[in-house]
Amino acid sequence: MLDTRVSRRAMLMGTGAAAAWLASPARALLQAVGKVAVPGFVDALIARMTPEEKAGQLQIMPSAWGGGAALSLNPPGNGSDFDQQVNEARQGQLTGVFNGNGARMARLLQNAAVKESRMKIPMIFAADIIHGHRTIFPVPLAEVASFEPDLARRTAEAAAFEASGAGIDWTFSPMVDVARDQRWGRGVEGGGEDPMLGSLFAAARVRGFQGADLKSPEHMLACIKHFAAYGAAESGLDYDVANMSMRRLHEVYLPPYKAGFDAGALSAMASFNEINGIPSTGNHWLMTDLLRGQWGFQGFVVSDYTGDEEMIAGGYAKDGRDAARIAFLAGVDMSMASGLYRKFLPDLVRSGEVPQAKLDESVRRVLALKAMLGLFDDPFRRIDEKREAARSLLPKTRALAREAGRKSIVLLKNDGDLLPLPRSGKRIALIGPFASGAHDLVGPWVVYGDDAKAVDLATGVRAAVRDPSSVIVAEGSKVEEPLPGGIEQAVAAARDADIVLLAIGEHTGMSGEAQSRTEIVVPEPQQKLAEAVAAVGKPVVVVLKHGRALALEGAVADAQAILATWFLGTETGNAIADVLFGAYGPSGRLPASFPWKSGQQPYYYAHKPTGRPNPPGELQPYKAHFRGIPNSARYPFGHGLTYGKIDYSGLTLSAPALPMNGRIEVAATIINRGTRAAEEVAQLYIHDRVASVTRPVRELKAFRKIALAPGQSQVVRFTLSAADLAFYGLQDRPVVEPGTFDVWIAPSAEAEGVHGTFDVVA
Ligand code: BGC
Repeated sequence: MLDTRVSRRAMLMGTGAAAAWLASPARALLQAVGKVAVPGFVDALIARMTPEEKAGQLQIMPSAWGGGAALSLNPPGNGSDFDQQVNEARQGQLTGVFNGNGARMARLLQNAAVKESRMKIPMIFAADIIHGHRTIFPVPLAEVASFEPDLARRTAEAAAFEASGAGIDWTFSPMVDVARDQRWGRGVEGGGEDPMLGSLFAAARVRGFQGADLKSPEHMLACIKHFAAYGAAESGLDYDVANMSMRRLHEVYLPPYKAGFDAGALSAMASFNEINGIPSTGNHWLMTDLLRGQWGFQGFVVSDYTGDEEMIAGGYAKDGRDAARIAFLAGVDMSMASGLYRKFLPDLVRSGEVPQAKLDESVRRVLALKAMLGLFDDPFRRIDEKREAARSLLPKTRALAREAGRKSIVLLKNDGDLLPLPRSGKRIALIGPFASGAHDLVGPWVVYGDDAKAVDLATGVRAAVRDPSSVIVAEGSKVEEPLPGGIEQAVAAARDADIVLLAIGEHTGMSGEAQSRTEIVVPEPQQKLAEAVAAVGKPVVVVLKHGRALALEGAVADAQAILATWFLGTETGNAIADVLFGAYGPSGRLPASFPWKSGQQPYYYAHKPTGRPNPPGELQPYKAHFRGIPNSARYPFGHGLTYGKIDYSGLTLSAPALPMNGRIEVAATIINRGTRAAEEVAQLYIHDRVASVTRPVRELKAFRKIALAPGQSQVVRFTLSAADLAFYGLQDRPVVEPGTFDVWIAPSAEAEGVHGTFDVVA
């Protein structure tokens, strides 16, 4: 329940303000979630099913097609071979498979299910379509840097178009886990460190994958994962525990999941981690009381890969039978990969440990979703070998990948306006392990994408310059090991050139699942390469490859220009070249802060002030900071430069005070004093000075991306209501308290921009 002092829903204007509303806790209580329609025939089917057939509808397995390629994406499971899986489909022992391969495989299994099984229930085909199917878009974290949620909707829709053409009905995406510790490798799959920004992207992706009608053979079911707080793993170690207050859970970690459900997602995946001692897969409060009770979720929940079985090693279940019972009773409808549900649920129902009605309820949810996907009307609606090929890597999809790629790039630094580079008249040394070659392009979480189909940096750069022979490529170093003679060769190339492009960073395997790092730096051999190349004295542009925010050091940090380019997918080289040579002016903003040092992790801009904050300027003794560095980021959340010269001025407030049921307009003038066009992302942050619970130093509430021609200025306006200022109060519900608030409109979370204050009055 909302505190009575917040009596009405905020009506906010414009994208930025709408964004604020989307993330506000008040909204969470007012939104409707996706609705499930259960057709009448579903109960008639359930009435005829044996407990074994029911349990079969609650068991999904990795596809064993092609020698079990799906298994190579995960630890070895309890899978069968493909012939056995076809047999299991005939026996009604499999609701579906995931990460299989293509329409041909799907047809074989679907035939077995709908023609040869007793109940003739269609199978569902799932896959990890995280950021593309064959055409690969930027990794999700990169795409969040666009600060353009609609871009994510469009790429999700394009991914659904390709994937559904290949027989896939259901994607295990979007992953919406807030990640505030860059050591964790899976931040690459998610929405970054900010709950509000992450919520907008969660909702956009769901809309893109699902479209307006789940029956559409160009769309698919989305799955919100990993529920919940998987990104809060202690010390950034994947699979480790999340320990936190309910306030932090509600304010920081839950909003993006909720936003995804509100956008209509009708499936959810339980996370591997525990929260405060209870594994999510066995957490009744999370899966039932909160998700279904408070949030009204009507879809179904699947475990993560052997997540039910892992409660044994985690010390929460005695054995497989116990694990199946605990997970099922907690509210996890479907088991992934362990096989425990089909093995134990029938007996658990017979013994009375699991109520028959509960089993029926889960089966009803799964069958209702299959019906909503149109599978009972036509089980082959997404299975069409010709369509699979016809939809793959189309020019329009590649064009979207290029657009998304360039919008995801963040210009961290550009001393002396080194960028954009001229297209002719300069010799370019393109140095580093990521300079060329069909590797490390599509990123760490693709099932069907192929580096060989992607454009590498050298190809993109050569296509952008007038004379491709002016580009000299030198590998210089391996990613984590030195390359014999590499540095000498790179130094010679740099000497010979006018400008150095240094393509360095992390390879594909350094982020993603189970890829936590202790030091989030450019690996030492590449750092040495950077030092040697810098010593040549030519201007250096660092082109970073990375799946997380990094702590940049030495010659890398000192380079004249730095571009954060993540893993951009199929159009990597073209997208980077577009920015390097000015065909596109950089507009990306960091979705995660780049700290000064690894040891600051977890670092996030919305931290608490502490009783001893270090005022801006010199580091002071007995103040909250690590030895030698400020308690800030080198490049904070929201940071990103343009090729223009952007100035913020003249913050105005429509009134000195905001009544509880009123609104206030905050505006500022933004001017481009440069000679090139720019796209600026104006960000509105607030800080509640004194509250019954201490508040973060800043919180993002709204943003707007605006285009400014040289010399052009624009007034950006945001409207705030009291509901936007709510926090999770002492009574475990959203509350707004009267008092003074700081407000900034600024180019990043740690830039001053323009500042004002207003009072919230009762
Ligand atoms: C991951 C999930 C993924 C699943 C199926 C798990 O290891 O945590 O994100 O959807 O495997 O591939």
